[in-house]
Amino acid sequence: VFAAVVRAPEDPILGVTVAYNKDTSPNKLNLGVGAYRTEEGKPLVLNVVRRAEQILVNDESRVKEYLGITGLADFNKLSAKLILGADSPAIQDNRVTTVQCLSGTGSLRVGAEFLARHYHEKTICIPNPTWGNHPKIFNLAGLSVKTYRYYDPATKGLDFQGLLEDLGAAPSGAIVLLHACAHNPTGVDPTLEQWEQIRQLIRSKQLLPFFDSAYQGFASGSLDADAESVRMFVADGGECLAAQSYAKNMGLYGERVGALSIVCKAADVASRVESQLKLVIRPMYSNPPIHGASIVAAILKDSEMYREWTVELKAMADRILSMRQQLFEALSARGTPGDWSHIIKQIGMFTFTGLNSEQVAFMTKEYHIYMTSDGRISMAGLSSRTVPHLADAIHAAVTR
Ligand code: LMR
Repeated sequence: VFAAVVRAPEDPILGVTVAYNKDTSPNKLNLGVGAYRTEEGKPLVLNVVRRAEQILVNDESRVKEYLGITGLADFNKLSAKLILGADSPAIQDNRVTTVQCLSGTGSLRVGAEFLARHYHEKTICIPNPTWGNHPKIFNLAGLSVKTYRYYDPATKGLDFQGLLEDLGAAPSGAIVLLHACAHNPTGVDPTLEQWEQIRQLIRSKQLLPFFDSAYQGFASGSLDADAESVRMFVADGGECLAAQSYAKNMGLYGERVGALSIVCKAADVASRVESQLKLVIRPMYSNPPIHGASIVAAILKDSEMYREWTVELKAMADRILSMRQQLFEALSARGTPGDWSHIIKQIGMFTFTGLNSEQVAFMTKEYHIYMTSDGRISMAGLSSRTVPHLADAIHAAVTR
């Protein structure tokens, strides 16, 4: 009965790893998926995560019972505090409902399903470009996806005028997806002044902001600075949604741990919203897994482990900054044609190089370097040892 099923293409991001795994070259380099690697090119489990796991393992009172539908209560409270700020009036007023979800993707999907059922406007405006999974998540939840201008290829920076024009022309009440920091794939973020203008426009048109926060602490090394955009929208007393992921900032990729917060105008609204989120979650996956959320809660609630986390987080952010500098210098040293200063200007895990899909294919074929076809490279996958190889490949690709 399945004979007519056609083969689906590989995922544009995760498929890069599939291709990389098949390559037998000793020089192969995976700069596709956004996953942190050490200077030795190895995945990293944070020391503080190991410590938290040890504590959990030794605690014999811990059992493997089901969590409630909304997940671990401590984890939810601490996650809201992390993104909104410990002194957030919205938290103090009990206007926020937070549910534990399956990392960033799961949080976005639960939020989208809720909006498709309970929000009056079904249009969601997403930046162009954006993370490849965004349009799929929102379409499948039943929202209608439109794009707004975001990136200007000429400047390799923000098309701020285009962004304001497109959001200004969005249907009143439309949902707007915003990357809280470290925009994926471009690494281009608005300045705080630009965020303020975006906020005013969004509020004046009664648009509904939906933040995707996958890189808190990873962009600047500061958890507070990377949450500024979200906090501006909460400080004005209006509604918003925020999807949080702990994949990158705690290195908990495969534990699938994240949270969806919905900031409402009043406590009784938040409580009713939560009751409806439960109806979204229960038939999808019943309730979320316990292990990853327990690690996060243990770290966030212990001041000493929290501090240790921030030090390790800053070290990851700093290593990425150093890779940006080294790659920029390596291209300058080779006299590679073009202006490559965007490598040091862009923010977060990715550089949007400006290389086209043919140049990417050339680099994969000749240099065994794997990256997404839009020219995005994960700076977290680079090391001092591999920078020269990448710089050689980029030089060859643009001078060919
Ligand atoms: C990425 O953009 O590479 C990451 O967010 C991983 C993913 O799931 O796509």
